[in-house]
Formats: sequence, C-alpha cells, structure tokens
Amino acid sequence: MQDWNDYQSQNKERFLDELLGLLRIPSVSADSKYKDDVARCAEAVKGHLLNAGCDTAEICPTAGHPIVFGQKLIDPALPTILVYGHYDVQPPDPLNLWVSGPFEPVIKDGRIYARGACDDKGQMFMHIKALEVMAKTNSQPCNVKIMIEGEEEVGSGNLGKFLQDNKEKLKADIVLVSDTSMISMENPSIETGLRGLTAVEIEVTGPNRDLHSGVYGGAVANPLNALCKMVASLHDENGHITIPGFYDKVVDLTEQERKSLNLAPFDLDEYKKELDVNEVWGEKGYTTLERTGVRPTLDLNGIWGGYQGEGSKTVLPSKAFCKITMRLVPNQRPAEISALFQKHFESIAPGYVKVTVKPGHGGEPVVTPTDSAAYQAAAKAIKTTFGKDPIPTRGGGSIPIIALFESTLGLKTVLLGFGLDNDNIHSPNEKYDVANFYKGIETIPYFHKYFAESFGK
Ligand code: BES
Ligand code: MN
Ligand code: MN
Repeated sequence: MQDWNDYQSQNKERFLDELLGLLRIPSVSADSKYKDDVARCAEAVKGHLLNAGCDTAEICPTAGHPIVFGQKLIDPALPTILVYGHYDVQPPDPLNLWVSGPFEPVIKDGRIYARGACDDKGQMFMHIKALEVMAKTNSQPCNVKIMIEGEEEVGSGNLGKFLQDNKEKLKADIVLVSDTSMISMENPSIETGLRGLTAVEIEVTGPNRDLHSGVYGGAVANPLNALCKMVASLHDENGHITIPGFYDKVVDLTEQERKSLNLAPFDLDEYKKELDVNEVWGEKGYTTLERTGVRPTLDLNGIWGGYQGEGSKTVLPSKAFCKITMRLVPNQRPAEISALFQKHFESIAPGYVKVTVKPGHGGEPVVTPTDSAAYQAAAKAIKTTFGKDPIPTRGGGSIPIIALFESTLGLKTVLLGFGLDNDNIHSPNEKYDVANFYKGIETIPYFHKYFAESFGK
C-alpha cells in the first residue's frame, strides 16, 4: 500500500512531535499527587483519537483513573479489532539517575528518552497514528475500537468492571496490544505468553517503640533482622521457592517446547555485559530464557524500616516492612498463590515478632495461540515490514487485563510489541527507538489488512 507509506513519510515529524507532547504529561497512576495530570493525559489521548479520525471518542470515568475509548466503524460486515493500551506510567524515581528530566522528552542518537516513551505511550500511540494513516487514506480494512486505560501500572483494578459493564460496546473479533518487547530489529519476535502476578505486603512488629540498640540490643528481637531471615528462607540454594505447594500446578514444558524456546537468539555474555553483572542467577536446571519466560519467581520489590538518614543512628527499630511480588505461570492462580504465601510466611514467623501479610493486586498468566488467523496475520505483517518471519517467544512481564479479555469478552489477544528489553521500562532513562516507533506505525496497518483477509474480506 503505497498510500500508507506516503502518508506516513509526509507526516512522520508531526507524529513524533505529538508523542513528545504526550510524554510531557506526568501521568503517574500510582501517586495521587499526579491525579490531575493523569486526567489531563486522558483528555489529550481523547483529542488524538478524534484527530486520527475516530467517529467518537469519550472519557469513561472509573472508581480510579479514567479509560479513554474511541472507535471508527466502517462496515458491520468487516471484522473488528479492539486495540488496548495504557496512558499511565510508572513513577520516575530515582530521579537523580535520569540524564534528562523524565517528563522533558529528548531525542538523542535516534532514541526518545522519557518515562512512558516505550511503556506504553510510545507503543499505544503507534496505534492511534496507524489508525490516522488508514483513516486519512480511506483504506481502513477493519472496524477499529481503541481502549486506552490509566491504571495498568497499578494492576488495572477498575478495568475488569468496565469490561463487564460494556460487553456490547467492546464487541470485537480480536484484541491487539503493543505493550511488550521483541528481540531486536534484526530478529523480530512476537510474545506468545505473559506471566501472571501476585503482590503481598508484609509488616513485622517487634517492641512497641524504637529502642536504643545498646540498651536493648541482643535481648529483644530486631524486626528488620527477623524479616530478612524469613525472606531469605523463601529461596533454597538452588533458587527454588520454598513455599509448600507453590509449584504444584506449574505446567512443565515438553522437551520439544523447551527446545524451541531456547532456539531464540540469545547471547548470555552480551546479556551480562549489558547489565554489568558477573554472573546470572536463577532456578537451577533452567536457562535464562526459561527462567524469565516459563518459570515462576518471587522477588522483593522494596524493604525498609529503621534509620535511613545521613550518618548512623544506633536504633533497634520497632517495625520492618517489605513488598514482594511473585510472577506466575500457567496454571498458577494469583489468589491461591498469595494464600499459600500468607500461610507459609505466618508459619515461619518466630514468636518474638508479630507478622501480618496483606495480599495485594494480581493478574492471571496468559498464553496466546500461534495457530490462529490473528497470529498468522501478525506474523505476515512483521514479515512484510521487517522482511523476516517473527520468532515466537514467551514474555516475562504481566498485563493483568489480558486474561480478562478472554474470560469476560471471549476475546483472544495478539501481543504485537515493538519495545526492546533494554528500553529501561520502569527504570531511569526509559527510551524508545524512533525507528521502532515508525516501524510499528508501518506494521500495524498490515495487521489490519491481513486480519481482514483472513475473514475473506
Ligand atoms: N508493559 C508492561 C508489561 C510487559 C513488559 C510485558 C515487557 C512484556 C514485556 C506493563 O506495563 C507492566 O509493567 N506490567 C506490570 C504489571 C503490574 C503493575 C500489575 C508488570 O509486569 O510488572
Ligand atoms: Mn505497559
Ligand atoms: Mn509497565
């Protein structure tokens, strides 16, 4: 489609400028001090949907941050693609490690640096621009619905209800999402699975007040010491998680599946070099690709308590805290796993401290089919614009709503991600390569085209 390429090359600078505008809005969903910015970002997304050619676009309020929904339906006889993405971003901390401001996007060496550049403003915006390309050249192959939410980074807690309440509005034939990564521009790939997630928060209480660590130290338990010991016991020397029953429902891969998963190009030395680690770590008996793709994990995301200011303070703290998340694989259920965690953690709590475990948000793992017409359409689209067949991979991250698309709306998903693992998502200096942004906009219309063709349209 020459028209698509022409339209894109005539408008590419503006596409990029508009993305930079979105990146300037600090739409941090986790922190209530950004609430107005999040709302402002939703308004901006709605404006972009209308400018791209949507017939309608609206802000749908929720108990949390709003969802933006727009559509351009052209013919009821054509299939409908429901695009999902998120306009909220992770907190930018630690701020001092950013080379330029997280909400002052800059382009350097062909890369866009800003919080949300890749996750997910840069990626969801490719769909809005791809729609513009198709709509403005009067060559839209499918009906399009776009739903961009504002709470993905905090677990999509209100989106499930929105799906329940809007089944008719969200009726579609497939969900299309760009919020994952691919191996590289040279080795394009499509993620065919995501891990699930379950979060817990722990509070350990010792004495009723902070104490002098000389007067009381050695005689009264230190809750920080106790917490560290308990947390350390959650992995054995082989990197296995020690919670009884944790692995009971984990589906082991067949030898054939393991083999094909490990065929994906991966250079362990490069990987270590890029992360500045001398050795990798993980569950014994599994490769790095298996450890991130198909095995469950347990990680501390934060641990605190006691004195953290300048200099030293000889204190025996009264309380210690931590946050833990576990990544889950098929068929582990978030609620079941956090219940197992809670039971185990309470059982190992020594009598000299009080321990409370509070289960948090979660999401189910997903596996997306590769033998479907939708996956084939995505593979063909990649082949068209990259000149190479994509490699199917398993992603380690989580997108909680994907499982609900299937259970609530009966819809399968295609994860057509254009990010790279080294885009620093959730880290300081998040970036997205300009080339990937443009390549995504170029590729997406072909998905629409081939998906329509698979319906005989
Ligand atoms: N886009 C990511 C998920 C992702 C990243 C999938 C890279 C595959 C490859 C998403 O925004 C994300 O960060 N999800 C959270 C979920 C959580 C906050 C409920 C995650 O995975 O930690
Ligand atoms: Mn994301
Ligand atoms: Mn994210």
